[in-house]
Amino acid sequence: MKILVINGPNLNMLGTREPEIYGCETLDDINKELSDFSKTLSKDIEIDFYQSNTEGEIIDKIQNSKKYKGLIINPAAYTHTSIAIADAIKGAGITAVEVHLSNIHAREEYRKKSFISPVSMGVVAGFGKNSYKLALLGLYKHFCKNNE
Ligand code: DQA
Repeated sequence: MKILVINGPNLNMLGTREPEIYGCETLDDINKELSDFSKTLSKDIEIDFYQSNTEGEIIDKIQNSKKYKGLIINPAAYTHTSIAIADAIKGAGITAVEVHLSNIHAREEYRKKSFISPVSMGVVAGFGKNSYKLALLGLYKHFCKNNE
């Protein structure tokens, strides 16, 4: 089961970026933890990680995601602005889970709007790095046969 994880703009700065909101771990730390967690679910899960600060690059990656069974995406600030990323997810027909480290509904008003939620199977927000693990668990359970 191949899963693509996409992280959007400024998430390459995790560790030093507003640690009181986003935590002290780097994106590499979070990715490594997600890889380790995937092994506890199944040895058949294979994860590719991608980060970009550029909307068009994220769209290209989604358009070329045919080999993946599922997508975990933290679109970062593009969550609140990008109809283009939403269209790419819809167009690719990939099963996506939207992820946020912080609870976007408990922050500024402009973060409450997500263009990505309507094209996602599910949304996980507010659990810090564990949001990614919960998203993977949800995707895995969705795809595996006995999904209790
Ligand atoms: C974020 C929330 C967004 O509003 C913000 O622009 C980010 C990170 C999160 O993971 O909490 O860059 O997606």
